[in-house]
Amino acid sequence: AHASVRLGADDEPAVIAHRGASAYAPENTLAAIDLADRMGFDWVENDVQRTKDGELVVVHDDSLARTTNVEQVFPGRAPWKIKDFTAAEIATLDAGSWFGPEFAGARVPTLKQYVNRVERNRQKLLLEIKKPELYPGIERDTLRVLRKAGWLNRHHVKHRLVIQSFGVDSVKAVHAQRPDLTTGFLGTPAVADLPEYARFTDQINPTHTSITADYVAAVHKLKGAHGRRLQVNTWTVNTAAAATRVDEFGVDGIITNNPDIVRDAVGE
Ligand code: G3P
Ligand code: CA
Repeated sequence: AHASVRLGADDEPAVIAHRGASAYAPENTLAAIDLADRMGFDWVENDVQRTKDGELVVVHDDSLARTTNVEQVFPGRAPWKIKDFTAAEIATLDAGSWFGPEFAGARVPTLKQYVNRVERNRQKLLLEIKKPELYPGIERDTLRVLRKAGWLNRHHVKHRLVIQSFGVDSVKAVHAQRPDLTTGFLGTPAVADLPEYARFTDQINPTHTSITADYVAAVHKLKGAHGRRLQVNTWTVNTAAAATRVDEFGVDGIITNNPDIVRDAVGE
């Protein structure tokens, strides 16, 4: 086992706060990771995309419409794609009121702001490069921001950072550019294809509805890109019943909007 990136303590899976503690605070905001921290969770997951002027920001959808007040502030700009807005424009938006009035004024964080907050909280980051097909070269941009923020030093790389994507070419690009980094592929490759994935990734991160005990065992039989047992982090597990089920499969990490419910279920 590679203790440094071993996710959970002992035999328990790591509990990873999905978009922060996103059942209780607006997803992908600093408030959501601060709340995860106060609840006692060190791993947080986020989504990274790129603005018109090349800034990396933390948002899940490729449009700003669902999680900000962009429709009111920029009514003529439908469908409000991130790639069509500058970072300065996005910085004016309210990313909290849609979730609840107590979060009014929360902002869309830049990746730089976000990792600085993760650092302040001494948390660990499962960073998703979202929709890489929309943002050619976003892997290099992401690594540049992380390096400038001090997150590609040995300590962070070994203990606190995993980069994942649904885009297989994106995972390969990260692995090629920084072979020391831990990577994850989001999806459920066929068992026969797993050895190919294991050449460039350390984690297979499937939706929980797609997996069985046999599938997890098949992943665990292999060694990942760094020679450690290939790991499984599964998403998005928001009920005690679902958490108990995947815990019995022996997954390494559980990605959840409700980290408290999952912690209670798996006994972390
Ligand atoms: O981290 C896994 C999960 O976030 C992938 O799906 O759509 O929530 O980014 P999505
Ligand atoms: Ca995600």
